[in-house]
Amino acid sequence: MTEAHDAVEVIATKRDAKTLSDDQIDWVVDAYTRGVVADEQMSALAMAILLNGMDAGEIARWTAAMIASGEQMDFSGLSWPTADKHSTGGVGDKITLPLAPLVAACGVAVPQLSGRGLGHTGGTLDKLESIPGWRAALSNAEMMGQLEQVGAVICAAGSGLAPADKKLYALRDVTGTVESIPLIASSIMSKKIAEGTGALVLDVKSGSGAFMKELAHARELAETMVALGAEAGVRTVALVTDMSTPLGRTAGNALEVAESVDVLAGGGPSDVVELTLALAREMLTAAHKDDVDPAAALADGRAMDVWRQMIHAQGGDPEASLPTARETHVVAAPSDGVLSRLDALAVGVAAWRLGAGRARAGEDVQAAAGVQMHAKPGDQVRAGEPLLTLHTDTPERFERALAALDGGYDVADTAPDATPLILDRIAGA
Ligand code: URA
Repeated sequence: MTEAHDAVEVIATKRDAKTLSDDQIDWVVDAYTRGVVADEQMSALAMAILLNGMDAGEIARWTAAMIASGEQMDFSGLSWPTADKHSTGGVGDKITLPLAPLVAACGVAVPQLSGRGLGHTGGTLDKLESIPGWRAALSNAEMMGQLEQVGAVICAAGSGLAPADKKLYALRDVTGTVESIPLIASSIMSKKIAEGTGALVLDVKSGSGAFMKELAHARELAETMVALGAEAGVRTVALVTDMSTPLGRTAGNALEVAESVDVLAGGGPSDVVELTLALAREMLTAAHKDDVDPAAALADGRAMDVWRQMIHAQGGDPEASLPTARETHVVAAPSDGVLSRLDALAVGVAAWRLGAGRARAGEDVQAAAGVQMHAKPGDQVRAGEPLLTLHTDTPERFERALAALDGGYDVADTAPDATPLILDRIAGA
């Protein structure tokens, strides 16, 4: 096959901060997927994009080219409207677990194609795999069947969806080119648009535990993704939410499932409940179903009924006991006062080092490992009383987890200023 371009010419265009043509973008994404553009060439291009950016037209074309690299799903045959949510990832972010059954209980089907965690943010599939028997891999037919019958499915994204992104994301991970707004936005949106959801709600995290440490960058990422969704005909809304402290009181796989079940039972930490309901309302509105109150479906057990059906449909036993860690270690409050800071990144890295996350793709994670938080910023603490409990099956990990937590929290005389959980809302024009 004669190639329409060559990689060096495309790299040089972006190296010189010029605009890539539609034709160059279509070619380079396709040729990389085919193996004609080598990894080292794509890494040079990714770095040039990271340094010199892409304009809105280039980002939209890049996203379309990644979608075109694989299959597209179609939920138009379902008797339900569909809405999905994507979080850019945070510490203790278990919101998908109560959210998907809650939105289904309100009449909107949720096709959640999720991933596994890498680094300090946990993956939804890793969390659900702590439920005995639960299986992440479903065929497209199984997924469709479950969506029609139960209204919610959380499963592994098949390799057919945006394969260009799968290859490029793995490359970015090892070449220091993850932190580019055009590349993150096109990566996330290519998968979500290819998945075929009718509506999409994005939870873009901002703060120490997030990709985007600065609010201005989180806003820019949210605006870029909302514009891509609108252009592809997917009703898209983004909430920018705080990730300077962990969500809820647990970070870890089984620990987060237990907390999610508490939320579905009408309890759970107030920040997890607040964000679950806010995202549910956005999803219902985007799917034109805003006459239903998700708070009622959470309170009266309808969301819990869907959770049980959803877990059961994928081979899991929703009544089974969750695994518990062989060893625990308590971190006590150093003095009397108010917990004024509990850093999301410190807790995320500690949970990861305890075995809740993986350092390399494909490694096993410990179902029971993680961090339980007995206090959150603003809570009173007393010297010597438990602040955190660390859980692991392998106690030699405590030392490095404790090192991650060193300097990760402060106890003060006065309460910190309350930070809102939802920092901004960005909707399409
Ligand atoms: N998640 C993705 O799917 N892609 C990115 O580039 C970053 C986070």
